[in-house]
Amino acid sequence: LNNQLALTPQMGFNDWNAYGCNVSESLIKSTALAMHNDGMQAAGYQYVNIDDCWLTHNRDSSGQLVPDPAKFPDGISGTAAYVHSLGLKLGIYEDAGTMTCAGYPGSLGHEQTDANSFAAWGVDYLKYDNCYADGVHQSGDGGPSAQSRYTTMRDALAKTGRPILFSLCSWGLDSVWNWGSGVGNSWRTTGDINASFGSMLSIFHSNVGLASHAGPGAWNDPDMLEVGNGMSATEDRSEFSLWAEMAAPLISGTNLANASSTTLATLTNSRVIAVDQDSLGKQGTEVSSSGGLDVLAKPLANGDVSVALFNENSGTATINTTVAAIGKTGASGYTLTDLWSGATSTTTGAISASVPGHGTVMFRVAGGTSGGGGGSSPGEVHA
Ligand code: GLA
Repeated sequence: LNNQLALTPQMGFNDWNAYGCNVSESLIKSTALAMHNDGMQAAGYQYVNIDDCWLTHNRDSSGQLVPDPAKFPDGISGTAAYVHSLGLKLGIYEDAGTMTCAGYPGSLGHEQTDANSFAAWGVDYLKYDNCYADGVHQSGDGGPSAQSRYTTMRDALAKTGRPILFSLCSWGLDSVWNWGSGVGNSWRTTGDINASFGSMLSIFHSNVGLASHAGPGAWNDPDMLEVGNGMSATEDRSEFSLWAEMAAPLISGTNLANASSTTLATLTNSRVIAVDQDSLGKQGTEVSSSGGLDVLAKPLANGDVSVALFNENSGTATINTTVAAIGKTGASGYTLTDLWSGATSTTTGAISASVPGHGTVMFRVAGGTSGGGGGSSPGEVHA
């Protein structure tokens, strides 16, 4: 969406994965403070996002949404003021149907009223879900399409004059990737993730082929991170690696106030974050995938290429590729930086690693000329 937001994929926190309906002002404030103090904000996480269940069940007499006063005693505006005082931004959740997924009032038919409320409260980000859309879960069944319902809210947000990042929670319906870039800053490509390797793997497979639809301001969203929520540390690093390689929004869904040092180290790895946040804005693509061993390549703005070697199987495996396969040529030697260990090495062409089961090794490859996978990329030459 051409609103100058999310020129690189958005980074932040959302409460849903760890807390479900148990959202509150105190949770949002304590999470924001934790992010401020534990390196998350410094690593680039900016948005602190409220998910479903922040509302009362009825609009007020003038038709406005009412934050639950028991959960949000200072309202959304008071919560926003605190989050802003830390230098962070506040996100909220609504729905393009008659109710949110958890049964609170939806925004269908109230788009401008609700957008005005969000802007007045100081909201910076809207996650817009798709439950209770009156039988319009598929195109062609007679109701207003997801595209038209989401477009109405896009226009309502624009009319407020406040920059509000627009995140479509459209679960891949109506092939949202075909129209999402004109309507939102990101769009969910799949159903909900859960904290299991199988869920993460199937979402990865659904999202990885959609690279051509993504770019600055418009990202495929394979759902929020489950890092810290129950997968192994190796699996957590795989999710973080693959999401970065796919230029996905990085929205932590874990208890940040009590996160382990391992979880925080994964979420704040600056070398991996730099791949996600690279200004070229190319989603990585699969170079090869066979027998559960995947090689992905993502061209980067300075001519480097990021490579992810992902082992879907449970046993350790060696994964091989070459600099030519990932789109680099023209030098007698290349430098590989292992983005998890930080170690560097050189190669004349082979790229290979022993990758633990469910693990991912990521390299940044420098040297030579980069032309592959980048479409119109300029093919800068590095010594
Ligand atoms: C849907 C969304 C989730 C979450 C819940 C809240 O399932 O996909 O991300 O927002 O609704 O009810």
